[in-house]
Amino acid sequence: MRTLLMGPPGAGKGTQAVLLSKALAAPHISTGDMFRKAVEEGTALGLEAQGFMDAGQLVPDEVTVGIVRERLMEPDCLKGFLLDGFPRTIPQAEALDRILESVQAPLDIVLNIAAGREELMARITGRRMCHVCGASFHVLFNPPAKEGVCDQCGGELYQRDDDGAETVGKRLDVYERQTRPLLDWYAKQGLVADIDGNQSVEDVAGEIMNAIHGRRS
Ligand code: AP5
Ligand code: MG
Ligand code: ZN
Repeated sequence: MRTLLMGPPGAGKGTQAVLLSKALAAPHISTGDMFRKAVEEGTALGLEAQGFMDAGQLVPDEVTVGIVRERLMEPDCLKGFLLDGFPRTIPQAEALDRILESVQAPLDIVLNIAAGREELMARITGRRMCHVCGASFHVLFNPPAKEGVCDQCGGELYQRDDDGAETVGKRLDVYERQTRPLLDWYAKQGLVADIDGNQSVEDVAGEIMNAIHGRRS
C-alpha cells in the first residue's frame, strides 16, 4: 500500500502515521522528521533547512524532492510506504508522480485529515516530541505516562522550535497557500479520502483503517 497523509500542521499526521505504519508494516517517511534529524546532527542539509523551518516557510523543492527520491529508492519501500508531510507543493507532487511512474508504483490513497484552526493551534502549542523516535504527545490531549518521557522508547520529550504561536500562524498560512491546492490535484486522480480529524486519536485511526479497507476491496 502506497499511502500519503495530508492535512494542515497539527492535524495529526505524525500521530496517525506511527499507528498506521505498524498496522500496514510500511515505513513512515516524514520530511519534517528528516529535516529535524539533520538539524540536530548539524549536517549540511540541516543547516540549509533550519532557517526555513524556524521562519515557518517551506524548504526549497529541489532539496526536499532530492531527499525523498533517495529515501524511496531504499529497498524497504518496495512493498509500500507512508508519506507524511510530502508533497507540499505542486512541483513536489509532479516530481513524486515522476519518481513513482519510473518504478511503476502509483499511489493507492491520499488521506486528507482536516481540523479547525483553533483546534490546530491548541494541538500544536501543547505538543511534545520525542528526541529519539520522533513520537508526538500532547500535554493535555495525549499525555505520556510519565511527564517528559516518551512512552514508546523512554526518550526525552521536547517542544519543537517552530511550535510557538507566531510561527504556527505562518505555517497554517503557508499550508493554505501552497499545500491545500494539492487536494484538487489528487482529487482529479480519484485518490482523496477525507478524514475527520476533530475526533479522538482512536476514532481518527478507525476512520483511516475503514478508508484503506474500502480502497483495497
Ligand atoms: P512537519 O514536521 O511536517 O510539520 P507540519 O506539517 O507543520 O505538521 P505537524 O508535524 O506540526 O503536525 P502533524 O499533523 O504531524 O500533527 P501531530 O500528529 O504531531 O514540517 C515542519 C517543517 O519542515 C515545515 O514547516 C517546513 O519548513 C519543513 N518541511 C517538511 N516537509 C516539507 C516539504 N515537503 N517541503 C518543504 N518543506 C518541508 O499532532 C499534533 C499535536 O496534536 C500532538 O501533540 C498530538 O499529540 C496531538 N493530537 C494528534 N491527534 C490528536 C487528536 N485526534 N486529538 C487530540 N490531540 C491530537
Ligand atoms: Mg508531523
Ligand atoms: Zn521515543
